[in-house]
Amino acid sequence: MRSPHVSTTAIHRSGELVAAVVTAGRVCSRGRSAIGLLRGALGRVPATLLELGSGGGNNALHLKRHATMTLVDLAPDMLAMSRKLNPDLEHIAGDMRTVRLGRTFDAVFIHDAIMYMLTEDDLAAALTTAYVHLKVGGAVLVMPDCVSETYVPSVEDGGEDGEDGRAMRYLIWTHPPVAGTTAFCEDFAMLLRKPDGTVECVHDRHLFGVFSRAQWQAAFRRAGFAGATEHADPWRQVVCLARKD
Ligand SMILES: C[S@@+](CC[C@H](N)C(=O)[O-])C[C@H]1O[C@@H](n2cnc3c(N)ncnc32)[C@H](O)[C@@H]1O
Repeated sequence: MRSPHVSTTAIHRSGELVAAVVTAGRVCSRGRSAIGLLRGALGRVPATLLELGSGGGNNALHLKRHATMTLVDLAPDMLAMSRKLNPDLEHIAGDMRTVRLGRTFDAVFIHDAIMYMLTEDDLAAALTTAYVHLKVGGAVLVMPDCVSETYVPSVEDGGEDGEDGRAMRYLIWTHPPVAGTTAFCEDFAMLLRKPDGTVECVHDRHLFGVFSRAQWQAAFRRAGFAGATEHADPWRQVVCLARKD
């Protein structure tokens, strides 16, 4: 089962036209559960929170009520979109595998952007970035769309209607992993309707990584963590939490 947030990739990739149609709260329910999970891990709400792969800033729009957030993303256009939504937050361009900010946070959060890690080395590098940016006693929360054990090739559709006549309908076609790799492909087809009634058709293809539970644990250990605990979120999807001792 995919959570409602899955449509954010399609929405972001197809630009502001569609982003404006969809209210952030409707697409990021899963991300919003992050504060509760981090509170459980830390015993308190984190005061400072670093999000890696923050995209258009939909999670941040909600999470910033609870913590002072710093947002890192690879793509300048996504950062620009997030700046509009969250002008009050610090935005930094960087790769979650290599970025080094020279400071530490109470918590680090990586939501669906972790899916862009295609190899075990990528995954370990992203978790290492999380580790070096955590205070001792801090926690990282990672929310992949799936792990190998829960991965199911699928077709999903949905959409949203805006109040100004803009609307979108999408189809997401998830393919089986590429043989001998930890990568799989998703094709996105989107129909974007403008207020004047004209409709544009957009196709987008994304390559994502999928890892077994054992590979996740190995990556956390390579990054410096003793290991991670696995939890099920309200959508019964895997989330990983690890503390820096
Ligand atoms: C689906 S969007 C994230 C949306 C986000 N959850 C939100 O609430 O708006 C995925 C993001 O991951 C970013 N990304 C992909 N690879 C990355 C990397 N290596 N380092 C940092 N960001 C990356 C993309 O630029 C994209 O903005």
